[in-house]
Amino acid sequence: MAIPQEVIAEIKYRNDIESVISQYVVLKRRGKNLIGLCPFHNEKTPSFTIYPENGSFYCFGCKVGGDVLTFTGLIEHLDYVESIKYLADKCGVVIPEDSGNDNSLQRLKQTILEINRESARFFHKVLMSDSGKWARDYLLGRGLSLATIRKFGLGCAPDNWDSLLKHLTGLGYSIGDMLQANVISKSSKGSYFDRFRNRVMFPIINLRGNVIAFSGRARPGDEKAGGKYVNTSDTPVYKKSENLYGFNFAKNTCADRVILVEGNMDVISLHQAGFTNTVAALGTSFTIEQAKLLSRYTNEIVITLDSDTAGQNAVKKALSILKDSGMPIRVLVLPDGKDPDEFIKKNSADKFRALIEGAESDIEYKLRTASQGLDLSSDDGKLKYLKAAAAILADTGDDLTIDLYAGKLAERYNLSKNAVDSAIKRIREENAKKRRQAEIKEVEAPRFDKTEINPEKRFNKRAAVAEETIISVLMAHPDFFTKVEEVLPPERFITALNRRIYGDIYAALKEGDNIEISLFGAKYTPAELGYIVSLQSGVKAERNPGTLLSDSIEVLKQESMKNSSDGEDEADWIDRMQQILKQKKGDNDDGK
Ligand code: CTP
Ligand code: MN
Repeated sequence: MAIPQEVIAEIKYRNDIESVISQYVVLKRRGKNLIGLCPFHNEKTPSFTIYPENGSFYCFGCKVGGDVLTFTGLIEHLDYVESIKYLADKCGVVIPEDSGNDNSLQRLKQTILEINRESARFFHKVLMSDSGKWARDYLLGRGLSLATIRKFGLGCAPDNWDSLLKHLTGLGYSIGDMLQANVISKSSKGSYFDRFRNRVMFPIINLRGNVIAFSGRARPGDEKAGGKYVNTSDTPVYKKSENLYGFNFAKNTCADRVILVEGNMDVISLHQAGFTNTVAALGTSFTIEQAKLLSRYTNEIVITLDSDTAGQNAVKKALSILKDSGMPIRVLVLPDGKDPDEFIKKNSADKFRALIEGAESDIEYKLRTASQGLDLSSDDGKLKYLKAAAAILADTGDDLTIDLYAGKLAERYNLSKNAVDSAIKRIREENAKKRRQAEIKEVEAPRFDKTEINPEKRFNKRAAVAEETIISVLMAHPDFFTKVEEVLPPERFITALNRRIYGDIYAALKEGDNIEISLFGAKYTPAELGYIVSLQSGVKAERNPGTLLSDSIEVLKQESMKNSSDGEDEADWIDRMQQILKQKKGDNDDGK
């Protein structure tokens, strides 16, 4: 059962595209439209355009487009029905029961979430039972209280090959679904076994409170056997690059500041010590998706990763990912190579709080660490350092910050401010040039454009362009429909995608409906919708739409004639067209 159109319309009406997108993208007004940096690919100059008039968006760089539902689906990784529900929740529209649950992916996701919840319960029960005593002792020994253990839903995977498998089978779940949830694995001999064995279990919980994955730490002394950590691989409900451990709690307390740490145990200890705004990347280096997620919830990030070399390399990587986030970033390197978990236990929460408050800014951190390994008492070392420092400042977005630190550098190394300024300026110009070159390459190879939108265009460009023009004109001037209704039924379109689009437009106009992007809804991919939006906004104003239409119809007619033998009259032409198209349709269907 589908969600009724009028409910979708209501939801879209209450979530206008401009205010929804502006929650994710900084938008600038450009005439009737708005532009911003595309959230779906990396770019430095905005090519992401919103057409509030049409309720649509389109990126000229990566060529995705659509309406507010397409946008929500892409940015929140939801399918069409989920996007509708997501926006419905936001504006308080109630979707009638029993509608929209007929989607099989949706059902699979639901089942995986149930399996995860049952598994988490199972692991927690084991933790609290005799067989989980070692894990309980271990966690209590690391300073966690029972309340904390409960709050994070920690558990223990038994030292057994099929405990969970049996448990879930008893609850009626299928092997296939358990595999999809990634809680069991299949051996090369074809038998199935528990993925997590003899481990302390950390459920990973999303913002809606669902268990979406697990991280399992080896029993102490057993780290060698199967690896210190075993994590859930990506599943239909989990992408590790897009989630953060502890964010389900931190999301409510991190508006001013979020603390980013490395390990699950760091998160849990810090939460227990009152730093409930702490999160960790999930066994990966920090990703752009995670940065974007955080930037929607917080105003400042303090990174405090382990102070070993690996940790400090991770800091540098995270800084480069966060560079363009627009948020203030600070870095805390804990003394004596400790991680936050150890630090807080050996010292105190107050001491940790003081260090967080006094953490250096990202620039200070970079400038300080750039001198490591250089002999600043020699001229050579000083020069090397100054060059590195100039490069760091040149890479900073904010002019005032640059000026402030350029002044400090000049003073400290007894140089003229002018010399420092011009060194920075030169590097900035070089960087800008490199960026421009990279951008040109990027536009040449947009991400969503890898599969051709309308491959048939290659074989009949002239016809395809005429079709595009007809679609464009009709979207801008629906009153011209009377001009095409009789002479141009959809079957006369030559390329399949344009035929499909024109068919939908034709049907809507015949019913007297408006042409807006939502008309195309779930039937088209974001790349196809992008194409439609580009046609919608691409009408050439300088030409008379009526002439454009009749010229294009003429072209289309000529192009179809080319495919048939000479001298046929109009009626034959239509016959033949329809035959060809039937044949083509058959081909297409087979190819799917
Ligand atoms: N991690 C992982 N896989 C590994 C090692 C680490 O996924 N093989 C992730 C885990 O999320 C872990 C984090 O990286 O929490 C940090 O690793 P590490 O510092 O080794 O673990 P700790 O959390 O400090 O674990 P412990 O304190 O129990 O040693
Ligand atoms: Mn640790």
